[in-house]
Amino acid sequence: MLAHVFSAHHAAFLGLVGSLLLSCALALPNGLGVTPPMGYNTWNDFRCNDISASNVKKVADAMAANGLARAGYRYLNIDDCWAVRREPETMRIVADPAAFPEGIKPVADYVHGKGLLFGIYTDRGNATCAGRPGSRGFEGLDAATYASWGVDYLKEDSCWADSGHQDVAFADYARMRDALNATGRPIYFSLCGWYPWYSSVGNTLGNSWRIWGDVNGWGSVYTAAQVNAKLFPNAGPGGWNDPDMLVGSSPHAAVYNSPEQSRTQFSLWAAMSAPLLIGSNVLNMSTWDLETYTNAEMIAVNQDALGKQAAIVHDTCPKLKLSSIKPRHSVDFNPKRPSDELDADVPECEQVWAKPMSDGSVVLVLVNWNGSARNVTCASSCLRSAGIDASHVLAYDLWEHRKLGVFSSVVAQLGANGASASIRVKAASSSSSSASSSLASLRQNRRAAAGMDTVSLS
Ligand SMILES: *[C@@H]1O[C@H](CO)[C@@H](O)[C@H](O)[C@H]1NC(C)=O
Ligand SMILES: *[C@@H]1O[C@H](CO)[C@@H](O)[C@H](O)[C@H]1NC(C)=O
Ligand SMILES: *[C@@H]1O[C@H](CO)[C@@H](O)[C@H](O)[C@H]1NC(C)=O
Ligand SMILES: *[C@@H]1O[C@H](CO)[C@@H](O)[C@H](O)[C@H]1NC(C)=O
Ligand SMILES: *[C@@H]1O[C@H](CO)[C@@H](O)[C@H](O)[C@H]1NC(C)=O
Repeated sequence: MLAHVFSAHHAAFLGLVGSLLLSCALALPNGLGVTPPMGYNTWNDFRCNDISASNVKKVADAMAANGLARAGYRYLNIDDCWAVRREPETMRIVADPAAFPEGIKPVADYVHGKGLLFGIYTDRGNATCAGRPGSRGFEGLDAATYASWGVDYLKEDSCWADSGHQDVAFADYARMRDALNATGRPIYFSLCGWYPWYSSVGNTLGNSWRIWGDVNGWGSVYTAAQVNAKLFPNAGPGGWNDPDMLVGSSPHAAVYNSPEQSRTQFSLWAAMSAPLLIGSNVLNMSTWDLETYTNAEMIAVNQDALGKQAAIVHDTCPKLKLSSIKPRHSVDFNPKRPSDELDADVPECEQVWAKPMSDGSVVLVLVNWNGSARNVTCASSCLRSAGIDASHVLAYDLWEHRKLGVFSSVVAQLGANGASASIRVKAASSSSSSASSSLASLRQNRRAAAGMDTVSLS
């Protein structure tokens, strides 16, 4: 059913990025990332400040207590700023002694004791983005050190390294891939280069690969999603496109979006089979964000065994050319993360994304990217593009957790500036469609659309 839309996207993709042959290669033989990883990363919460054993332990306590661990967020990943130097004699990496007085291993043990997995960060260059020691030339030693600490996940960044030559980047990442394998410990390998060209070879190098710059606001959520849309054929069990972390709505984190926008990002990331790594304030998470991140029905969309990444099936947004995309980290040797770079303006446009599920249903995410409230419709041609081979669908609302009925098109009444609806649809049998209504109008985003009530079906 999906053949025609997917082959159309394939053709466009082929023209832009080149051969897809490598995307057929088998995933890494470490057995990890069979479904997208779920967890938390310190960067969008702490940045370079306050990364310490005591704060990491507090985050572990919070994840175990507030329901995130139970919902599937298993990885607690430390980002940049934990390391300070190398031992002059052994060249072994040394954690900041003030922040981690007993080193990293007891912290990993503590995290494991909470039923979580432990992740750490390095860089394929001479230094990390914050100027801490990088792994170039020390891949074997660093991998062995991480394994001895009980590390389960490694993010390897791309600062202070050659970003202009794909062959150099691939060789750098292959060295760490092989070093991790040689430890004998299964360690999830997260590539953090910032270009879409990682995607077609990503699953030969790592379990996931960043496809663009950092997501820091609504503009970068928009661009990351548009870039990632082109790369959907490369995602699958064992290897995932990574459009970066989830920005929450807590103003106590280093970056945040509006509550509706953070929920829309989560819905899109779930449909895109993206890693679900929370980049927000876990120690003081709002009820809204907790409700967003623990929506078991949306998590099941992300974790579906088929592992297909959603494609766009209805689109009024400006066409994006991958070749015109500049990663926001355009500086190869910049010691600082460009957190002060401005997000691009989000156009006033709408999209419908469709993710095929292993049970034959399709999850639609209908998005109002910017501007005033609007009705976003997935009518018959949109439903056909989504792989529905029937005149009517059974619809289920994944945020309101209820059946909506049988319809010939799906219409979401969406509030302004980033509201969305996530609807699971399934071809309706002819007997049920005879009794069907013609339209589903859906109320979405209680806050954004206050006063907009569900329109009765007719
Ligand atoms: C290392 O790679 C081999 C195959 O090349 C695989 O059988 C093995 O499971 C891998 N080990 C780890 C820890 O990734
Ligand atoms: C990394 O350091 C080595 C040795 O000092 C140097 O030759 C190389 O040019 C450096 N690479 C980058 C990308 O700065
Ligand atoms: C936690 O959140 C509340 C409500 O938003 C806020 O008043 C408080 O300052 C926050 N505390 C911390 C430690 O971030
Ligand atoms: C929404 O679009 C308007 C122009 O129509 C623009 O001025 C504004 O910055 C956009 N909002 C965002 C968050 O990009
Ligand atoms: C959306 O559709 C409903 C029902 O037809 C209508 O009442 C409402 O005005 C529409 N909203 C917008 C923003 O067009």
